[in-house]
Amino acid sequence: MPSVLLYGATGLIGSRLAIDIKTAHPQWPLTVFLRNNNADDYFKSAGADKLVHGSSTDADLVRSLSKEHDIVINAATSFDGDFVNLVISGMEERPEHSKGTLIHVSGTGNFIDHGTSGNFNPESKVWNDDNEEDIKLVNRNMFNGPTDTPILEAGERGKIITYVVCIGMTYGPNTGPSSSLGIAYTILTYNAKQHGFVPYVGDGTAVASMIHVADAVPFITKIVGVAGTEEPTGSAYSRYYILHGERVAWKDLTTVLAKTLYAKGVVSSPEPKSVPFEQAGQGEVGKLFGANMLVKGDRAARLGFKAIQPSILIALQEDLGNHTF
Ligand SMILES: NC(=O)c1ccc[n+]([C@@H]2O[C@H](COP(=O)([O-])OP(=O)(O)OC[C@H]3O[C@@H](n4cnc5c(N)ncnc54)[C@H](OP(=O)(O)O)[C@@H]3O)[C@@H](O)[C@H]2O)c1
Repeated sequence: MPSVLLYGATGLIGSRLAIDIKTAHPQWPLTVFLRNNNADDYFKSAGADKLVHGSSTDADLVRSLSKEHDIVINAATSFDGDFVNLVISGMEERPEHSKGTLIHVSGTGNFIDHGTSGNFNPESKVWNDDNEEDIKLVNRNMFNGPTDTPILEAGERGKIITYVVCIGMTYGPNTGPSSSLGIAYTILTYNAKQHGFVPYVGDGTAVASMIHVADAVPFITKIVGVAGTEEPTGSAYSRYYILHGERVAWKDLTTVLAKTLYAKGVVSSPEPKSVPFEQAGQGEVGKLFGANMLVKGDRAARLGFKAIQPSILIALQEDLGNHTF
């Protein structure tokens, strides 16, 4: 019975994943790693077998827990390379005959075309998980490169087995013990708050790839099942899965976002506003508005992935409805 360790258990994704894993594999001992001290009851009723309190900066704890478990899931951060390197270093201490498996949740922000016009570009590259040459191009300069790159390298070194589940901008309600909106909603709403309105760039026809959390989580659980029952095949680049639902134009997304945030008193206008690329936002969020994010998950689809949840354009109002800004 493989033991499973989940980092990021209180997050938008992690909180559903903990329940989903225990439902699919009730006999597999699950440890959840928590920074939040007010979430124990949620995980006890979810059936988690062990709760460990700590922070990702507790190096000795992270290293030893990562070494002790057969399957380690990182749903905490796809930006913090130091944390991921700690996890890998612990896992690589295991003997050759009982290699650990690391399952990492990454993001399709890696694959934006770095356009700055905010307009759709039909010439942009479509990144496909079924093409190992595409995945070999993942590098440290990409949004999630600081974690994806050492993980792919570790998978190729072969002392651990790696799977990466790379998901689109994730929406859907938080059903867990924290009030986190998840990374995507957090950066979009924070950026709107900073501006006092909801920005987009150019004509807003540039597209982002989206996924509902309820579509993503069962696939991550499926990979946990594969990791616990099957011998790995192929290279680390062939164990990289891209999950996405629809592609949404920024103008459409920001129109719904502006309406919702205005109704909640967060911004001063119910309409989004086109701004020059340089004024769209600090750091990654600004880059997203200007660019196209085109991905395809043929490999994930072969393993049964299919997005079936409603569009973010329908879900957003309810997702943010009960949140206190
Ligand atoms: N949401 C998206 O749009 C999206 C898209 C693609 C990829 N991803 C990736 O998927 C993963 C999960 O995303 P999410 O949206 O579920 O994020 P989230 O709701 O912000 O959850 C992050 C989780 O990580 C924990 N965490 C963060 N820093 C920590 C630290 N220093 N020590 C211990 N725990 C820490 C948080 O604990 P606390 O509750 O204590 O804060 C929380 O449980 C991330 O790697 C993210 O980059 C997300």
